[in-house]
Amino acid sequence: MSAAEWVPEGGNVDTLRRAATECRGCELWEPATQVVFSAGNPAAPIMLVGEQPGDSEDRRGLPFVGPAGQLLQRALAEAGIGVADVYVTNAVKHFRFTPQGSRRIHATPQTTHLLACRPWLEAELRVVDPQLVVCLGASAAKSLLGPTFRLTAERGEVRERDTPVGVRRVLATLHPSAVLRTQGPERDEAFAGLVTDLRTAAAAVEKT
Ligand code: URA
Ligand code: SF4
Repeated sequence: MSAAEWVPEGGNVDTLRRAATECRGCELWEPATQVVFSAGNPAAPIMLVGEQPGDSEDRRGLPFVGPAGQLLQRALAEAGIGVADVYVTNAVKHFRFTPQGSRRIHATPQTTHLLACRPWLEAELRVVDPQLVVCLGASAAKSLLGPTFRLTAERGEVRERDTPVGVRRVLATLHPSAVLRTQGPERDEAFAGLVTDLRTAAAAVEKT
């Protein structure tokens, strides 16, 4: 399984976005409503990489527009990161879910899906060429940094790391959905941790 044969050589983010509507690189396209490619500024200093679109994103065709996205927007604002400072995308471009009655329950993408979809992420990295890549959660980190990367041990640090498109400055942090899943008073702590890491990201780039 691989998206490689659908990824055009050259072009800009819009070229990639258009081509991705045709992608059949893995089976996830079929039950999904549509591909969810990316949003934000293709010339941004920071590239945010999430896991995969959720239910709201699948319906609207835009990344991070549901509950996790709203939390992310709040965290970015608190960290002093503006809309022009980010390009937002996901490691996997189609919503993976398990139907349960009329509901669609998020299902974590498998390693095979991360690998199949990675040619899109690689193409985005080449075109956007951000100053810093921020991996939101373990799936994005696994896609870019490999299965041995340990998010809990290495989060919050800007480091030069080996990625499939060469050495890049990368910071990994919590996924906003992980903050949402945290119950009780620890949720505020988790949110504050995300903001702290995003502040570190903001300090590591020259803003637009
Ligand atoms: N979670 C993600 O990782 N990405 C989205 O776009 C929405 C929720
Ligand atoms: Fe292609 Fe990625 Fe969608 Fe799979 S998830 S069909 S590789 S765009």
